[in-house]
Amino acid sequence: TDPAFIRNFCIIAHIDHGKSTLADRMLQVTGVVADRDMRAQYLDRMDIERERGITIKSQAVRMPWQKDGNTFALNMIDTPGHVDFTYEVSRSLAACEGAILLVDAAQGIEAQTLANLYLALENDLEIIPVLNKIDLPAADPQKYATELANLIGGSPDDVLRVSGKTGMGVEDLLDRVVERVPNPVGDPEAPARGMIFDSVYDSYRGVVTYVRMVDGALAPRERIQMMSTGAVHELLEIGVSSPEPVPSKGLGVGEVGYLITGVKDVRQSKVGDTVTTARKAAEEPLPGYTDPKPMVFSGLYPIDGADYPDLRDALDKLKLSDAALNYEPETSVALGFGFRCGFLGLLHLEIVTERLQREFGLDLIATAPSVTYHVTTEDKKVTTVTNPSEFPSGKIQSVSEPMVKVGILAPKDYVGTIMELCQSRRGSLLGMEYLGEERVELRYTMPLGEIVFDFFDHLKSRTQGYASLDYEPSGEQDADLVKVDILLQGEQVDAFSAIVHRDKAYAYGVMMTERLKALIPRQQFEVPVQAAIGSRIIARESIRAMRKDVLAKCYGGDISRKRKLLEKQKEGKKRMKMVGRVEVPQEAFIAALSGD
Ligand code: GTP
Repeated sequence: TDPAFIRNFCIIAHIDHGKSTLADRMLQVTGVVADRDMRAQYLDRMDIERERGITIKSQAVRMPWQKDGNTFALNMIDTPGHVDFTYEVSRSLAACEGAILLVDAAQGIEAQTLANLYLALENDLEIIPVLNKIDLPAADPQKYATELANLIGGSPDDVLRVSGKTGMGVEDLLDRVVERVPNPVGDPEAPARGMIFDSVYDSYRGVVTYVRMVDGALAPRERIQMMSTGAVHELLEIGVSSPEPVPSKGLGVGEVGYLITGVKDVRQSKVGDTVTTARKAAEEPLPGYTDPKPMVFSGLYPIDGADYPDLRDALDKLKLSDAALNYEPETSVALGFGFRCGFLGLLHLEIVTERLQREFGLDLIATAPSVTYHVTTEDKKVTTVTNPSEFPSGKIQSVSEPMVKVGILAPKDYVGTIMELCQSRRGSLLGMEYLGEERVELRYTMPLGEIVFDFFDHLKSRTQGYASLDYEPSGEQDADLVKVDILLQGEQVDAFSAIVHRDKAYAYGVMMTERLKALIPRQQFEVPVQAAIGSRIIARESIRAMRKDVLAKCYGGDISRKRKLLEKQKEGKKRMKMVGRVEVPQEAFIAALSGD
C-alpha cells in the first residue's frame, strides 16, 4: 500500500471510557467483522480481559475505509488503559501518527486521560478529541467539550460526539481520522526497520509479533534479525490482522502487521525492539527500547507444597506470553518453597496470581507486596533489597526507596480528605489545578511503597469512587526505614518481616503480634509473639500454654480407636510448620497474611 493511503492511529482513554466498545463499532462500520460474528470487546482475547472488561494487551487491526473515492487502510491500535501497562501504551503510541482522545461525556477528563494525552503529545501525535457515550441521559457534552477544548486548545465545536454503543458519529470519526492524521513517512529503499509494539504467545502458532514498519520492507521466508539481541529467525508468515490474521506478500513503509517465526518465547521478540533483515541489516535501531522494569515484588507459594513443580511449570508458561513477569525460587520457613516474583504494578500482580489460579488450578498465597530498596551499610556497601529477608543486619547508614509522581483527579469537595490521605502516606504536594469549576487535579510525590498496599482502595472509599489515580516512577529518595521482624518464641518468622517507615513500625508490630496471637493455637508451653527492630522488642503478646492430649478422651480401653486417633493427629501434623519448637498450622500463616 502507498503510504499516502495509510493512517495509523490509536484510541487513548481513561479506563471504562469506552475504547473497546468504540473499537467494536469501527470493526462493524468498516465491514471487517460481519454483524453476525460480532461479540462485545472483540479485540480482548483473554478471558480475564473480557470478564474484567479491561484491555491488558494491545491489539492492532487493519480496516479499509472509503473517502472521496479513495480506499484508505486504517490501522487501529487498541491500547491498554491501566497504569501498570503504560509501557505498552507508549510503544503503541510510537507506532501511530494520530490518537483519538476518548472521553466519557458523563464523566469528563480523568487521571489517565491526562497521563495518556501527555504520552501522546510526547510522541508528537495528532490528537482528535472525542466525547463518547453521548446516548447516556447523564451525558453533558457541552460542558465536557469545553473542558477538553481548554485542555488541548481549539474550539469546543471541534470535539466530535459519538456513541460506541449505538454507533452514532462513528463514520464521521473515521472520516476525521483520514483528514487529520498525517500519513506515515519512511524510506522504502533503506534497510528494513520495523518497531515491535507487541508480542503475544499463541499455543498454536507460537509467538506472534506485531510490528510497525518504518523503513524498507519485509517479505515472507526472509531471515529477520532482532536488533537488541542479534538473534536471527526465519519468517514463516507475515500478514495483517483484519482482525483475523490474513497472510500478505509483505509489509512496506508505514504498514502495521504481524510476523510469525515459530519461536516459542516472547522474550525473543521484545516490545520496543527493532526488527530488520539479516541480508541487509539496518545500522541504527529505532529509538525507545527499554526493558520493562518490575516495580512490585511478592512471594508466591503453593498452599499445598506438592504443587511446587506445577507452580514452576505454570510460571514458565505464563512467561512465554508476558515478558514483564520475573521470578526466581525462594524458600520461607513459614510457607515452604515458592517463588519471588516481580511485577510492573499491583494490577499486574493481581492478574498473574488470578491466571495462575484459574488457568492452572493452583491454590496460592502471596506475601505482602514489597518494592525495591537500596540499603547502604556503614562499610559503604549497597544492597538491593526486594525481599525484607535480604535487609542487611549491620549498621545501616541510609535506605533509599522508589518514589512516584502521583496525579489524582476528583471533584473539589474531596480535596480535604485526599490531602489527609496523601499526607498520612508521606506524600508531598507538588501542585493543584482546577480543570473546570468542579474538578481538581492534585499532584504529589509519594513513596511507591506507600501506594502498593491499599492506597487506591482508601482513595476510592474516601471519595465514593469519584477519584481517579495515575502514577509514574520518579527516582529514589532516602527515608527513615527499618525492618520489623516478627518472632515466635524468639524465632523469626520470615514471611512477616516488613520494611516500614520508623513512624509506622510500632503500629505494624502491634497489628501482626495481635493477629498471630489470635490465629496460632495454644501449645504445651507459653509462646511469646514479639515484634522487633534488630534486637529491640517493640511489641509483645503471648499465647498461653495448654496441655493437648488426644488420648485423654479414650478412657484407657479400645486400642484400635487409640491408634486411629494417633494416625489422625499425624495427618494433621503434615500441615504443621515448625518455627523453633512451636507448631503452627499453615492455615494460621495464610490467614495472618491475607487478613486485614
Ligand atoms: P478498558 O479496556 O478497561 O480501558 O475499558 P474501555 O475503555 O475499553 O471501556 P469499554 O469499552 O469496556 O466500556 C466500558 C463500559 O462503558 C462498558 O460497560 C460499556 O458497555 C460502556 N459503554 C461504552 N461505550 C458506551 C456508549 O457509547 N454508551 C453507553 N451508554 N455505554 C457505553
